[in-house]
Amino acid sequence: MKMRFTRLFAFSLLLSLFAVSLGACAAEKSAPVKVGISMSDFATERWKPEAELIQKLLEEKGYEVLVQEANHDVKLQNDQVENMVSQGIRGLIILAEDGDEAVSAVEKAAAAGVKVISYDRLVKTDKISAYLSFDNTEVGRQQAQGLMQAVDIENWDVAVNGKLRLVKLGGSPTDNNAILFRKGQDEALEPYADKIEVVADQWVDDWDPANALKLMENILAATNNDIDAVLASNDGTALGALEAMRAQGLAGVVPVSGQDATADGCNSIVKGELSVTIFKDIRDLAPKAVGLMDSLLNGESVQGMQQFSLAELTNTPNQTGFVQAYFLPVVQVNQANLYDTVVISGFQPYESVYRDIPEDQRPPKP
Ligand code: BGC
Repeated sequence: MKMRFTRLFAFSLLLSLFAVSLGACAAEKSAPVKVGISMSDFATERWKPEAELIQKLLEEKGYEVLVQEANHDVKLQNDQVENMVSQGIRGLIILAEDGDEAVSAVEKAAAAGVKVISYDRLVKTDKISAYLSFDNTEVGRQQAQGLMQAVDIENWDVAVNGKLRLVKLGGSPTDNNAILFRKGQDEALEPYADKIEVVADQWVDDWDPANALKLMENILAATNNDIDAVLASNDGTALGALEAMRAQGLAGVVPVSGQDATADGCNSIVKGELSVTIFKDIRDLAPKAVGLMDSLLNGESVQGMQQFSLAELTNTPNQTGFVQAYFLPVVQVNQANLYDTVVISGFQPYESVYRDIPEDQRPPKP
């Protein structure tokens, strides 16, 4: 009797051990893989919806997603990345506030085995798994070409008008894209070099429209409002500059460039104040990043990437290393093609683009 009881006890102990280990296995299997999203800020219109889209698409694939936003604070962004790594993320999609400063946190993450995708902006290290963005040099070229078209540079007569007095407003100097936009802008301006006089050349910290407004107020005061074109590097800073120009009666008179085809930027184009913006379809970039992350985490080979040197991508000859990168195309948008590119494609809502425009002057609702 005693013997049977002991056997029974031993048997049930075994059974329960088996059940516990089965349970542990199941728990291990179902624990979702974590992916971190680290965003520099949510101040520019595009970033919040983009982070939300990336999160949604990752969740649909079964990942657990951690999202952090650093409010333009470089140190905070690095702390947030390190914190997510300590929470066990296996992948990181990072929009860096500062392509140099983010290197330390990104390299630590990579050393911990985290697959890192540099999203839209380059983090300057070859430890990233991939860099996904738009053709940023082309953005700059298109901005400058669009602006030159708006001032009709081909027919600009220096003998009659003097040289074209150009204001350059670059983006945030810590954003590698701002450097690439400038590179493309300079390339496109080169053929007209002897027709142009750069009367101001500034960079807008944090891409902040309020900074652009202040800079433009100072530029207008210093030049006695004598400017002919403003090469701003995105819609936010362009609209900040336009606010200062409006106060001097120059909005809609002096051509201005932008980028992002934001709702407000498009509305400004319709109203004849912003001359040109650059449409970058973020609805393609976010899924690309998610697909790529999924492949990286599953150890699958990734198609369509191309190797680039960091020297080339940063426009800095002494930068060493190579990364895998992919760039989406960009489209120049002005009054003539805004409806077809931005409205018909549903990139911006009709009501936002034609805000304040009387019904009878609007194109048909798509
Ligand atoms: C992006 C632009 C954006 C800017 C400000 C750049 O890195 O490429 O699309 O307007 O940052 O956030």
